[in-house]
Amino acid sequence: MSHNPIPRPFSLRGPLRGHARVPGDKSISHRALILAAMAVGDSRIEGLLESEDVIATVAALWSMGAQVGQDSNGNWAVSGVGVGGLLQPETALDMGNSGTSARLLMGLVASHAITATFIGDPSLSRRPMNRVIEPLSKMGAEFSVTPGGRLPLMVHGRVPAVPIEYRLPVPSAQVKSAVLLAALNTPGVTRVIEPERTRDHSERMLKAFGADIAIEEAGSERIISVTGEAELRPQNLSIPGDPSSAAFPIVAALLVPGSDILVQHVGINETRTGLFEVLKEMGADIVFENEREVGGEPVADIRARHSVLKGVDVPPEIAPRMIDEFPILFVAAALAEGETKTSGLGELRVKESDRLATMASGLKQFGVQLDEREDGLTITGSGGEKIKGESAMPEIRTSLDHRIAMSFAVAGLASEGGVLIDDISPIATSFPSFPPMLADLGAIAP
Ligand code: S3P
Repeated sequence: MSHNPIPRPFSLRGPLRGHARVPGDKSISHRALILAAMAVGDSRIEGLLESEDVIATVAALWSMGAQVGQDSNGNWAVSGVGVGGLLQPETALDMGNSGTSARLLMGLVASHAITATFIGDPSLSRRPMNRVIEPLSKMGAEFSVTPGGRLPLMVHGRVPAVPIEYRLPVPSAQVKSAVLLAALNTPGVTRVIEPERTRDHSERMLKAFGADIAIEEAGSERIISVTGEAELRPQNLSIPGDPSSAAFPIVAALLVPGSDILVQHVGINETRTGLFEVLKEMGADIVFENEREVGGEPVADIRARHSVLKGVDVPPEIAPRMIDEFPILFVAAALAEGETKTSGLGELRVKESDRLATMASGLKQFGVQLDEREDGLTITGSGGEKIKGESAMPEIRTSLDHRIAMSFAVAGLASEGGVLIDDISPIATSFPSFPPMLADLGAIAP
């Protein structure tokens, strides 16, 4: 995937007001496509996130034999090859910026009789893959890997693969899902033990597709068992809006005086709502309205109004339930009254960028007082005053990280003179409609 840097200024035009929709959930979109590709027959997906990350998954599944396309209503149709039916791809699978595509598809390939090469952009090529290579090797797959366990790498799948019992050493839904997907074409029962709860979209969707999956709770641990060589039934799926995308307009509304917005149709699966809980504890006026269930996932319309926020200590146990939301939480903390302390966030250093370092250096440009530690940031907020750097319009480096770009766009709206984002093109990996959505809400000029 080619990359064209696009610089763009963001400065506030007015308070955020009105209704907005955010695109489909990224995690659920990947899983919907992958499981539909593993079903026998035709599935239909409504509300799929049409972003670069998800299109990387579409292209990879296509090159392994699934047929994926769009119908005249804009819904996606997938004609699956069935568990065990993946074909040998003729070229390398380009994962672009997408860690979820790379790790989940490595799991899928691991128990098929094919060899696949995975490549990615410079950001993805820096990210650790040993966390999936280790359990998938135990299942019998073989790997040829760039030193340090990085992309590019080649996966030689094993048939029949060996069922394992695997305790997650890092709280990662991607690692859990890679093993569960490999389990689909593995005879016998594969078990994943999850000491800390992470997003459970794979489990929910495996159930919906008719996989033989059992979940036991043992204290704080969850044991997820999948019996392999399953036949998955095609489904009609509806994907809710992504709470990780909704986080950006919601925090913007909290920070900009006079704002009052309703973000409609957002997933509120409790494995994803840690940010909203922390913000409420900080004093945020956030209300879930019209709670309902869509396609096996809880959904609500989320109302957010400008609020005076207070700093809090964020307990490290909540991190897996808001792992992608720390960059935007740091922006909220920068405007809050008093200190916000975060810890236990070592995982943020291996996301699309080192998010502790990129956020710390960008916030410093806005004059924010903070202390960066190996596993977290402590931020002293402005007490609601607009943030203001030494230069009239700080220039932020986004390091190929969509969430850094969007977090600093929001920081720009809450600042004295706005912000120049060096490269907004990564936003297209998860939320292509982010700038027009801010314009529709009245925050920026169209
Ligand atoms: C994801 C899991 C998380 C998250 C990522 C999406 C998923 O990664 O950061 O954006 O869809 O499973 P980890 O599993 O590495 O925590």
